[in-house]
Amino acid sequence: MYEQLSHSILNEILDQLKPEITDKELNHFYTRLGANFYSLFSLFQKLYGKRHDFKYQLLKLVEVMARQYIMRSSLLKQQDLAREKDFNWFLHQKWVGMTLYADGFAEDLPDLAKKIDYFTELGVNLVHIMPILECPKNASDGGYAVSNYHKIDERVGDLQDISIIANLMKERDILLVLDIVVNHTSNEHEWAEKARQGDRKYQDYYYIFNNREIPDMFEKTLPEVFPQTAPGNFTYDKEMGKWVMTIFNNYQWDLNYQNPAVFIEMLDILLFWANQGVDILRLDAVAFLWKKIGGSSQNEEEAHILLQLFKDCCQVTAPGTLFIAEAIVAPLEIVKYFGEDAINAKECEIAYNATFMALLWDAVATKNAKLIRQGVRNLPDKLERATWLNYIRCHDDIGLGFTDDDILQVGYEPRSHRQFLLNYFSGKFEDTAARGLLFGQNPKNNDARISGTLTSLIGLESALEENNQHKIDLSIQHIVLLHAMIFSFGGIPLIYYGDEIGTLNDYSFMGNLSKANDTRWAHRPKIDWQKAQKRKIEGSIEYTIFTALQRMIKVRKEISAFGDFNNRELINLSNPHLFAFLRLDIHGKNHILVIGNFDASYQYLNLAEMHHNLFRLNDMNNNIIIDLYSGESPTMFKDQLVLSPFRFYWLSIN
Ligand code: GLC
Ligand code: GLC
Repeated sequence: MYEQLSHSILNEILDQLKPEITDKELNHFYTRLGANFYSLFSLFQKLYGKRHDFKYQLLKLVEVMARQYIMRSSLLKQQDLAREKDFNWFLHQKWVGMTLYADGFAEDLPDLAKKIDYFTELGVNLVHIMPILECPKNASDGGYAVSNYHKIDERVGDLQDISIIANLMKERDILLVLDIVVNHTSNEHEWAEKARQGDRKYQDYYYIFNNREIPDMFEKTLPEVFPQTAPGNFTYDKEMGKWVMTIFNNYQWDLNYQNPAVFIEMLDILLFWANQGVDILRLDAVAFLWKKIGGSSQNEEEAHILLQLFKDCCQVTAPGTLFIAEAIVAPLEIVKYFGEDAINAKECEIAYNATFMALLWDAVATKNAKLIRQGVRNLPDKLERATWLNYIRCHDDIGLGFTDDDILQVGYEPRSHRQFLLNYFSGKFEDTAARGLLFGQNPKNNDARISGTLTSLIGLESALEENNQHKIDLSIQHIVLLHAMIFSFGGIPLIYYGDEIGTLNDYSFMGNLSKANDTRWAHRPKIDWQKAQKRKIEGSIEYTIFTALQRMIKVRKEISAFGDFNNRELINLSNPHLFAFLRLDIHGKNHILVIGNFDASYQYLNLAEMHHNLFRLNDMNNNIIIDLYSGESPTMFKDQLVLSPFRFYWLSIN
């Protein structure tokens, strides 16, 4: 949009740019800067407009965008233009992701580069490598306490290794996702070191206080993210003699985005990584970006403004680069990280569907779909040009992030239902096969979350111990069912490394001092490649799960109704154990009925019950029903569709 004031300021800024910038070829940069400047200026002004150095900071911001644009390779610039034309490219059903640790899936980055065939074999074409930037050895929070944003941790490799991987992946049309920890740095980052030595400039990069006055005000309302390992949200630094805000662990110093210099530094870092060929940047802990006394300091309006600014700036320099929002917050809050009142994403194009993840686990424990149906019904539509990451497990704990309202609606009492789930997954419930561990227990509010691998939480670990073939088979079926849900729900499915071969909990973390008190390490395994090799032996557990996922991925890629265009219709069924939805084919008539049985016994579905939803699917009486996953007609008993324990169908009805 053209607006006089912002445009005249833009002209002033352009006049001040140094020849080393203006001498360069900047055509596309200028047109995009012009297109985004009004928005960018307005947002920057909202946050920093009262500062005397506002214009100077704005100039710095434009300089950073321009310098990084100049550094961007012509190959990436071409890719930017191609993605601009084909702007819905990431909504296509062809994308299937996997998250992994470079030193868990492989030994290190060079070794990972040798394992790319594994992705192709499975059908994965989006790879999220967990944080690899330099971190202190024992105080790293699994890579989320960065001490140098421009250097890869030497334990896994260096910049050249990642460039090799980026190129290998690009050749095979595999997307590369890396983390940028935007909310905090390690206490050993250069900025923190300088702050500690008394440098005022860098003290202003963090929230640092001389005494407890302000921290105490904050503490009245701030929740604790890690109540067991890091109670309280401030840490006293002896050398500095001051208090530092540390929302996560005491060695993770929260960055102060009230200071525009911090925003500009972080933008420079984001663009640096976009220029390394990273397709998608996962922005960590974005809900926490802005702090305010008197609230939870999560989901603040200013946090959204910061993300809009990051997006606007990134669109100018590297528009082909997407953002993932890691905002594990309430269902109605998560969806706001796409941006509101828009068609295309104003903040992040992709967000973790933490609500669906938690609801799936509820269905696992209760063996029914009551809450998942309720929760999905209330899941707001996302923006048109935005998509979910659908996942079952990730490197973090499972938080029971659905609302008490929804729990009440389906007839449970919220407190006791949540307690039941915690007991169920941590093995305290008498009728459970789950082998989970509690995480983040907080005696003050009885809160807790759950750790453990998919395989162990589902019951395969205990079934193997019992050597009970029937239970082993059921567990495998259950694992496959959950994948069938994330593969068809709408969005990008994200497999957690190791789940594709049924990896169990790894209890070795208990013997490691720096990990012992963080149960999340139970599900951050080192892949046993001998075990993985069994995926080639028919009849093995690894084979059964791996080939099921392989087939599912292949079939998914052929079903255009699985593209993500707000084309899902939930179906209400009288049988509470079944979860069903239609995926509408917006380009044609190949709609798909997805249905899953969450119970451990046979369940039936009367097709007539769905007449209302299926009216668009031709004449119901003469239809041929095919399960696209198995390629066979589903079992029918009279008018009823039969679903064996934990069975799912992807039905095409013609
Ligand atoms: C994110 C990460 C988590 C980490 C936290 C603090 O939630 O996923 O692993 O502990 O941020 O950086
Ligand atoms: C994240 C989430 C929290 C999660 C934690 C990592 O930022 O807010 O729910 O459990 O950090 O464990």
